[in-house]
Amino acid sequence: DAAEKSGYDHYMLKEIHEQPRALRQTISGRIDADAGTVDIDVDLPAEYVDSIEEIQVVACGTSNYAGRYAAELLESVVDVRTTVEVASEYEFDGGRDPWRTLVVAVTQSGETADTLSAIRRAKRAGARTLAVTNTLGSTIVRETDDSVFIRAGPEIGVAATKTFASQVATLTLLAVHVGRARGSLSYGRARELLESVRKLPNAVQAVLDREDRVREVAREYADSDAFFFVGRKLGYPVALEGALKLKEISYDHAEGFAAGELKHGPLALVTEETPVLALLTDGSRPHETLNNVKEVQARGAPVIGATGTDGDGETSLGDGYVDVDLPVPETGALEPLVANVYWQLFAYHVADEKGRPIDRPRNLAKSVTVE
Ligand code: G6P
Repeated sequence: DAAEKSGYDHYMLKEIHEQPRALRQTISGRIDADAGTVDIDVDLPAEYVDSIEEIQVVACGTSNYAGRYAAELLESVVDVRTTVEVASEYEFDGGRDPWRTLVVAVTQSGETADTLSAIRRAKRAGARTLAVTNTLGSTIVRETDDSVFIRAGPEIGVAATKTFASQVATLTLLAVHVGRARGSLSYGRARELLESVRKLPNAVQAVLDREDRVREVAREYADSDAFFFVGRKLGYPVALEGALKLKEISYDHAEGFAAGELKHGPLALVTEETPVLALLTDGSRPHETLNNVKEVQARGAPVIGATGTDGDGETSLGDGYVDVDLPVPETGALEPLVANVYWQLFAYHVADEKGRPIDRPRNLAKSVTVE
């Protein structure tokens, strides 16, 4: 067992640290940055891509948050209406020509019952379906029209970590593929996005190299009453994922909010005993979020910020805006994804401090095969 964990105390920590390698596998051979194109080995003919009227993403849990991240990107770079639905809530509505709706199932295991049943509903109604999964030979692969593999390698820890990163990276490649095929994504913007994808493994490594600092911060705040994660745009799904990770393995009360929603309710819960973890990177409207940071600071809450950096690697907002500043290397639209690695490490070390059974949290399963 110890050997399988390669010296780490838990599979989850091993898998957090495997992310640079997993991401290299995810993108290996798939990017032509000079041409601004990707090859994800998916059979979506150009005429079909051109005819797509809507993309609907269905997924559960962490995969749903990867889908939300991708949907933000798809809408901004591909110019196709994209919706994301929790699979157990999904109803297909594809208009006059259902085939023109591409339904994308995001599922690490390929076996989640809610996601399979959502895909079956879409297929029966005549939609085209595509799976984004980690698992060759899984049920979702057999039941969808096309599949793209995220190539993250096996994930044992119940709390998904490296598969989230590889899902978002793969979906970014899919967005570039669709955007280029439709002509809606410019060559320059495609290159920029692909450059961000290419930088991911090293950027994630730079965050992992700061684990000692994150452990210190986790120990300092481990006994708080609750934890709130906030972000805007691409930072919002990361806020939701950060809170999910923490509650799953530490059993603490954690919630993710769109930063702008704080004032519409959650602010009533904010005290000196509720740290707020804020996304302040590119792609997450850092300057607007900073206003929300000030609102919670005025109520005494400590703020832990994952902050974008300038060319020198210094955090870009200047000193003193947050209580703890964790620098995120420059990676454009993927900075919130890189910042998420801080939230993974934070969740891990809070849970570890409390002696929780991190790889097997109570009441949860790696793959849920009942609806
Ligand atoms: C379970 C796992 C989660 C996972 C979700 C979806 O709830 O505990 O970590 O995100 O299922 O799993 P999938 O395999 O479909 O991505």
